[in-house]
Amino acid sequence: MDKKFKRTTVTAALPYANGGVHIGHLAGVYVPADIYVRYLRLKKEDVVFIGGSDEHGVPITIRAKKEGITPQDVCDRYHKIIKDSFKEFGISFDIYSRTTSKIHNKFASDFFKKLYDDGKLIEKETEQYYDEEAHQFLADRYIMGECPHCHNPHAYGDQCEKCGSDLSPMELINPHSTISGSKPVIKKTKNWYLPLNEYQDWLKKWILEGHKEWRPNVYGQCKSWLDMDLQPRAMTRDLDWGIPVPVPGADGKVLYVWFDAPIGYISNTVELCEKEPEKFGNWEKWWKDPETRLVHFIGKDNIVFHCLIFPVMLKAHGGYILPDNVPANEFLNLENDKISTSRNWAVWLDEYLRDFPGKQDVLRYVLTANAPETKDNNFTWKDFQERNNSELVAIYGNFVNRALQLTKKYWGGVVPACGELQDVDRKAIEEFKDVKAQMENYLDNFKFREAQKEAMNLARIGNKYITECEPWKVWKTDPKRVETILNISLQLVANLAIAFEPFLPFSSEKLRKMINMEQFDWTELGRTDLLEAGHQLAEPQLLFEKIEDDVIDAQLKKLADTKKANELANYKPQPVKATVPFEDFEKLDIRVGHIKECKKVKKSKKLLQFLIDDGTGEDRTILSGIAAYYEPEQLVGKDVLFVANFAPRKMMGIESQGMILSAVDADGSLHVTSTLDKVKPGSIVG
Ligand code: MF3
Ligand code: ZN
Repeated sequence: MDKKFKRTTVTAALPYANGGVHIGHLAGVYVPADIYVRYLRLKKEDVVFIGGSDEHGVPITIRAKKEGITPQDVCDRYHKIIKDSFKEFGISFDIYSRTTSKIHNKFASDFFKKLYDDGKLIEKETEQYYDEEAHQFLADRYIMGECPHCHNPHAYGDQCEKCGSDLSPMELINPHSTISGSKPVIKKTKNWYLPLNEYQDWLKKWILEGHKEWRPNVYGQCKSWLDMDLQPRAMTRDLDWGIPVPVPGADGKVLYVWFDAPIGYISNTVELCEKEPEKFGNWEKWWKDPETRLVHFIGKDNIVFHCLIFPVMLKAHGGYILPDNVPANEFLNLENDKISTSRNWAVWLDEYLRDFPGKQDVLRYVLTANAPETKDNNFTWKDFQERNNSELVAIYGNFVNRALQLTKKYWGGVVPACGELQDVDRKAIEEFKDVKAQMENYLDNFKFREAQKEAMNLARIGNKYITECEPWKVWKTDPKRVETILNISLQLVANLAIAFEPFLPFSSEKLRKMINMEQFDWTELGRTDLLEAGHQLAEPQLLFEKIEDDVIDAQLKKLADTKKANELANYKPQPVKATVPFEDFEKLDIRVGHIKECKKVKKSKKLLQFLIDDGTGEDRTILSGIAAYYEPEQLVGKDVLFVANFAPRKMMGIESQGMILSAVDADGSLHVTSTLDKVKPGSIVG
């Protein structure tokens, strides 16, 4: 760590308590934060890891209203689910609290009061929509109306989900309140604003000059904000869910959720220090001592709040340290599609655990391997399977298992002594002795993907070493030599347990037990004397197991079902076409045909070739593009509707004499049409 710092305060964004946690959250925020904290702890550095649920804000009230329960009920439910998921996945918070706690309420309220008393806030009157039936001001999300851009009638007061435009409620055409359905009126209201504009020069200097080392995506986003003129930002809202604004004349107003939530990092630290004073000391040392390094782990949608607004709040208040780094991640997609809670396009952690019990580390590994550190990245189930089978199982697990099984076989599970080194030994030792420096370089710079690759590389070195040394052959001629090979292999295994601890804590723990290793210490990484000769190992077990195709197929099917359900839910029939006179319809000759034969068309994925009895006694050939939806055998013997007077046309060298009629379902799939009752082939449809 940088010499000027003595300790580190690490925070991870407080998730909204209105839904569970999915792989996007884990990959973007919580796994990287946890890796970093575990790494610092392994280095015996002084660190505190703060988390909690963000329990205020409008979405929670909307959810509560929909379900007919209180916002507190919503928070209680999801706070528990989220907290449990983090625990299950080994996200090792020192505290995971919540913003509805008493301590937080008081702390955030006092923080606001001080800004107010010190004259750091400005009072402004604005015009807002008000629902006269429900007697309340309407948050942007509580107003719907027609989008001024694409005329979608269901746009929200802050955004149109159809065309993606950001909106303000005043722009909506024919606005209505989603609470009462009534037409809102415009009413004046007073709120308190943080004058970001007054801090613009200071922010520019602090970030653009002082923190050029921040990730390019973070620095770039800050720069584009700071290149514009910052505006005062409202820190209070007319809402009945939140922390009451503690100043005169503020009845019915609460602190803006983005004001109180980041203060939650501090108040949760206060709560922790009150609970465990011996271990963590006074909370102020974590937030006010310039020798403390503050690091915020967040997703990219939180950058402006953590890099501009919260620092301005801290600066305006005075006495606080500012973040030293904000390693924000980009987004993780799922199977090439944006993760979305409302479309249920996500892998939820509680569901993952049900489907893959005990495989937390596999997900941690895959999410770090695909971490969206510099650009959006993609999670696919095939990649998940592949990385499990050909990396965790075939490289890491395999090496550990080989080393331990060979030791068991030849040495009864006791670490043999290391004899004289040969070139091959020296080469292997040489190869892995730098791993510590390399991993530190990556970890210190928040490059967790690269760091994890280095750890895996250690296992690669081990596998290569055993393969080259062939102890099973050498055993017959030179058993003494096998002692050295095993000793070096086991040292590598012990190194792996340390190197992977920040990434795969469960597997490291399991491995540590298998090799009876008392403790981990990062400083020992790279050493070849971690296990002494004569040290007894425990019974070897497999660290990872193969994941079969059917398991992955089941996950893919689950997603396909979700997609289909979404399409059906969003299905809107095509508008009816322009009216046509009966004579036009009469021009079409639609008949019933009986399918005598049906087969695939060579070299075509789309076409099926039919032989149809059309009642004339002369069968006709028709081609139809429905091969993706039917096996030929399913259709033989069925009656279908077809257009008989279509001009013949050639496809794939075959002449098609007509067209079989199909219905197009919501998801675009084709379904052949028929008659309800049996009729003679050739019957006219009309
Ligand atoms: N709840 C916010 C989100 O999920 C994050 C809040 S982070 C905090 O986007 F700093 F405000 F706590
Ligand atoms: Zn629109």
